[in-house]
Amino acid sequence: MKRMGSKQVLVPTVSCLLLLFCLGCKCLALELEATQTATLKVDASSQLARKIPDTLFGMFFEEINHAGAGGIWAELVSNRGFEAGGLHTPSNIDPWSIIGNDSSIFVATDRTSCFSRNIIALRMEVLCDECPAGVGIYNPGFWGMNIEDGKTYNLVMYVKSAEAADLTVSLASSDGLQKLASVTVPVAGTSNWTKVEQKLIAKGTNRTSRLEITSNKKGVVWFDQVSLMPSDTFKGHGFRTELISMLLDLKPRFLRFPGWLLR
Ligand SMILES: *[C@@H]1O[C@H](CO)[C@@H](O)[C@H](O)[C@H]1NC(C)=O
Ligand SMILES: *[C@@H]1O[C@H](CO)[C@@H](O)[C@H](O)[C@H]1NC(C)=O
Ligand SMILES: *[C@@H]1O[C@H](CO)[C@@H](O)[C@H](O)[C@H]1NC(C)=O
Repeated sequence: MKRMGSKQVLVPTVSCLLLLFCLGCKCLALELEATQTATLKVDASSQLARKIPDTLFGMFFEEINHAGAGGIWAELVSNRGFEAGGLHTPSNIDPWSIIGNDSSIFVATDRTSCFSRNIIALRMEVLCDECPAGVGIYNPGFWGMNIEDGKTYNLVMYVKSAEAADLTVSLASSDGLQKLASVTVPVAGTSNWTKVEQKLIAKGTNRTSRLEITSNKKGVVWFDQVSLMPSDTFKGHGFRTELISMLLDLKPRFLRFPGWLLR
């Protein structure tokens, strides 16, 4: 609104100036002949050249099109806090999905997380007892997780369960058939959230893998901030080594974080 107001003042002022300018030009134009030839001389000699400063070349970073999440940040889990739908319930848990069916598993979001600023947690209710192959949840990451043979992956997550349970955490192919790594995570039955940290070592490669968390015991388990990262991030900071190396090779003289561009 403010901008429109100043525009309204500007228009008459500019019009007056233009009118005066044109009147002046008209007098000048009368003096000139009809044949108007202009010659433009360009002196490109090196004496007149100006060196472009080295500091002019740098990088511009904005979190759009997965530049950060799914890009240079090495996190493999997409929507790890179950907050893609905001801080209200039901939230959006996409791309998380279930392993099992409606009669064996029920998932929902609630506001019981131990993180007060990211209050949404996932409540997973296993309905079957001695569920044959295990039921649970999986996350395909951003376009599938690139899991590589021999590499170590660090799992960090927060869990809560009223009764003791054994969770199975696996890295598997997108159809779940090929298991690349698997660990058992015992969860103590308490009313408290517990931080779980585990290492998974891949014994195979699949570029479109997923993270699976399953159980075969009836009960309720809550999850939040589920993270899976390769252990070989750039200087241990969490950036993807190969991408950061490419950016460093550009030898940027500055790094710019813009804002408000999409407004
Ligand atoms: C759910 O899965 C169980 C175990 O695989 C199967 O026995 C049952 O028929 C399935 N139920 C439905 C409704 O698909
Ligand atoms: C990765 O898994 C898919 C199934 O999800 C399979 O078709 C593909 O062959 C696997 N790739 C490798 C390299 O094993
Ligand atoms: C829950 O955590 C609190 C604070 O860390 C601790 O005092 C309490 O003993 C814990 N309760 C259980 C059941 O582990």
